[in-house]
Amino acid sequence: MIFGATGDLAKRKLFPSLYRLYQKGKLSERFAVVGVARRALSNEEFQLSVKESIEAASDKNGNHDEFISHFHYHSHDVTDSSSYLSLKQMASDLDSHYGLGGNRIFYLAMAPEFFGTIAEHLKADGLTDVAGFKRLVIEKPFGHDVESAKQLNKQIRNAFSEDEIYRIDHYLGKEMVQNIEVIRFANAIFEPLWNNRYISNIQLTSSEVLGVEERGRYYETSGALRDMVQNHMLQMVALLAMEPPIRLTTEEIRSEKVKVLRAMRPLEGDAVNEHFVRGQYGKGKIDEEEVPAYRDEPMVDPSSNTETFVAGKLLIDNFRWAGVPIYIRTGKRMETKSTKIVIQFKDIPMNLYYQSEQTLNPNLLVIHIQPGEGISLYLNAKKSGQNVEATPVKLNFANKGIDGINTPEAYEKLLFDCMRGDATNFTHWDEVALSWSFVDKISEVWESEKAENFPNYESGTMGPREADQLLEKDGFFWWPVT
Ligand code: BG6
Repeated sequence: MIFGATGDLAKRKLFPSLYRLYQKGKLSERFAVVGVARRALSNEEFQLSVKESIEAASDKNGNHDEFISHFHYHSHDVTDSSSYLSLKQMASDLDSHYGLGGNRIFYLAMAPEFFGTIAEHLKADGLTDVAGFKRLVIEKPFGHDVESAKQLNKQIRNAFSEDEIYRIDHYLGKEMVQNIEVIRFANAIFEPLWNNRYISNIQLTSSEVLGVEERGRYYETSGALRDMVQNHMLQMVALLAMEPPIRLTTEEIRSEKVKVLRAMRPLEGDAVNEHFVRGQYGKGKIDEEEVPAYRDEPMVDPSSNTETFVAGKLLIDNFRWAGVPIYIRTGKRMETKSTKIVIQFKDIPMNLYYQSEQTLNPNLLVIHIQPGEGISLYLNAKKSGQNVEATPVKLNFANKGIDGINTPEAYEKLLFDCMRGDATNFTHWDEVALSWSFVDKISEVWESEKAENFPNYESGTMGPREADQLLEKDGFFWWPVT
């Protein structure tokens, strides 16, 4: 059951992902999808919208009729028990028709203010009384801060146990994010160096070219810190910094990630502005076209204090990472759409190849998450010619899915994991709570002090100058991600 079936996420991601799973034979013929939303639609109208979304996403010419015949629609009021009772009847009819064994997945792809209410109704009105499994998939934002997240968690935990809850962080479905673990733990050459003796700093960038678009109302209450840092960025940090799990099970991996989040040095008071920089985009040019400032976007307060850019320095206080800064940065309306991780290794003790003041380039391992997927390793080798001089060389591996054709979409993988009952790539409550606690301290300071210099970066650039200074203070600079 997809709550929010007429919404953007369902159309852009969920229906096309289900279709691809179907095409690949990963859905048997025994499935039904119930679209749940407020609007009054007939089954036929709903099926047509599913068909249009599949065609828009990928497949213009396929024969979709069989696939869309599994889709049914329920017009629903999320606060009204009678709606749930008729949904329950519909679900049990479909259960008998398709022989579903009472297995149910409830996917909440709609406004977060209803998450708690829906979960409570699902239980109170008997939709969770099933003979098979029941799972709840829940989209972000999971709360607005640690307190509201706790409250929401309490509501959903009344109806679902922790192992039945699948909190989506779509970055965990990305091929190269999943690859971090394999690169680290399946190679002999990285893990021995993966610590403060050999790594000087780590840089994570997730930059976007798009602005806030039509999401001003939501974004004004969120900002880049809650929208990207609390979830996607900290999840990537946890994967990069965790200890090798003793086994690749959901529990073991999660428990290692949780330890990283627990070891993250909390920031308070003045330390917030020493370690974190906020930015907001002004007008500028993207692809030669003028784009408006954030404050001129629809549904945005003309004197908004909301950040559209964050850069920060994280410190993980444990034996492996003490003293290694992990820099993160993310923002909207930046120069390029790119998610990359750069691991910069320490310099060798002495440079034998140095020519007229020139220093050797440090070794870098770059994990390209998107748009291109791959790994690059920067080494130094001999420059051809008579002199023994070093020059940087790049070893490159590019995943075939550069254009996205061969790589399964994050949502496709996550939906499939949920059907199989594998929660590894979903966020556990402990991770959510720890990352909110970290981020809340920063929001408290930022919300209490108006950013006088907003807007402080031009659209189409890599963010405010202060983000560069953050690294310069430590003798580093952002490696280019373009
Ligand atoms: C979402 C945020 O979680 O991630 C969006 O709410 C952001 O604001 C998006 O644009 C970025 O995702 P991706 O996969 O395009 O990097």
